[in-house]
Amino acid sequence: MTESARRGGPRGGPRGGLLSVGAVALAAGAAQPAAEAAEISIACGALGVEFQLCKDGAEAWAAESGHSVRLVNTPNSATERLALYQQLLAARAKDIDVFQIDVIWPGMLANHFIDLTPFSQGAEAAHFPAIVENNTVDGRLVAMPWFTDAGLLYYRKDLLEKHGKAVPATWRELTETAAAVQAAERAAGNDKLWGFVWQGKAYEGLTCNALEWIDSHGGGAVVDARGKITVNNPKAAEALDLAAGWVGAISPPGVLNYSEEEARGVFQSGNAVFMRNWPYAWAPANGADSPVRDLVGVSALPRGGAEGKQSGTLGGWQLAVSKYSDHPEVAASLVLYLTGLEEQKRRAIVGAYNPTIASLYKDAQVLSANPFFGSLYDTFTNAVARPSKIAGAKYNRLSSEFWNAAHAVLSGKSDATTGLARLERKLKRISRNGRW
Ligand code: GLC
Repeated sequence: MTESARRGGPRGGPRGGLLSVGAVALAAGAAQPAAEAAEISIACGALGVEFQLCKDGAEAWAAESGHSVRLVNTPNSATERLALYQQLLAARAKDIDVFQIDVIWPGMLANHFIDLTPFSQGAEAAHFPAIVENNTVDGRLVAMPWFTDAGLLYYRKDLLEKHGKAVPATWRELTETAAAVQAAERAAGNDKLWGFVWQGKAYEGLTCNALEWIDSHGGGAVVDARGKITVNNPKAAEALDLAAGWVGAISPPGVLNYSEEEARGVFQSGNAVFMRNWPYAWAPANGADSPVRDLVGVSALPRGGAEGKQSGTLGGWQLAVSKYSDHPEVAASLVLYLTGLEEQKRRAIVGAYNPTIASLYKDAQVLSANPFFGSLYDTFTNAVARPSKIAGAKYNRLSSEFWNAAHAVLSGKSDATTGLARLERKLKRISRNGRW
């Protein structure tokens, strides 16, 4: 099979010749009908340099295949994006052929996507098996892995050095260091500086942050792998109470409305000592026009106390083809192109998007652009998963109860012990006989 046929291009593909070749053939009086070039629309995220990266990749595929692409802008908040997708898919809309989907969505959206196995020619074997398994629902490969993530700690190397502080090993140490550096800097006139920014808005990002606090304290992952609700425990309460103490002290009150990009905005303009964010924030933080270029370090998130562990929530995005697409085969070829090794390598180097192909973590160019891809490899491969597999179609209900409970504690509407007991009751009600 030719390279372009493998990629689903019209040349040599099931639909016949490349448009221009077909036109020439027709002009010459040949009986072959001209192949139709399809327009494929793809929904891409826009965090950091993500949208541009997606556009460049999709256009490169279009130039190579003879098809064309249309990029659809979607909300930055994973929660708002899910709501938009659910609306479009429920209406069987043809507006989007290729969907960029979150690692927690295969169980919720699987029925709307085609099985990619007939098109992939085994390409999935090169990707992290756990992600391929996550994307396989009832034996159907409903999405190809595109990039993976884990929550990380960003810190200002210059400020820690200036104030004689180490990268914090525990959340308490982070709290103290953030407070000390913030106070000293403010006293010296740096009055916009905050200690720590993160994602505190009531949405999926807060689920990720709160899971890290709780899991790192040994408080579990809300619901365990067997479906038991575990979140109502003293370690989880301790973790949430600690975080609630940050708001207005080392974190701006507005953090309760921050998603990824708001946190990055504050940190990148030089106004925070620490930031919790995903790997993508590395590339723009070191961009030519970034005020913190070369001043930023990255480490695993702190442990929850001496007994605790380092815990980063597993995130990441996949590409899926809509069942309602008029051109599923062509759309699948775009998915295979974008998720392929060359494109993942380019996205890692230009945008700090973590590949889902293990061999790229040994690639010298990838590592020189993102040294932490190597030093934090275990953080990425041992990240804590949200309970999306066990919750399946009901994951968003579970998560929204969790982020709302966390938000209530952070904003002082409830203490953690009461909030977690209430959360447990609600999760029991949504579940089947108390189990997920
Ligand atoms: C990142 C992660 C995704 C997560 C989202 C929450 O985009 O990759 O998995 O759900 O953040 O805000």
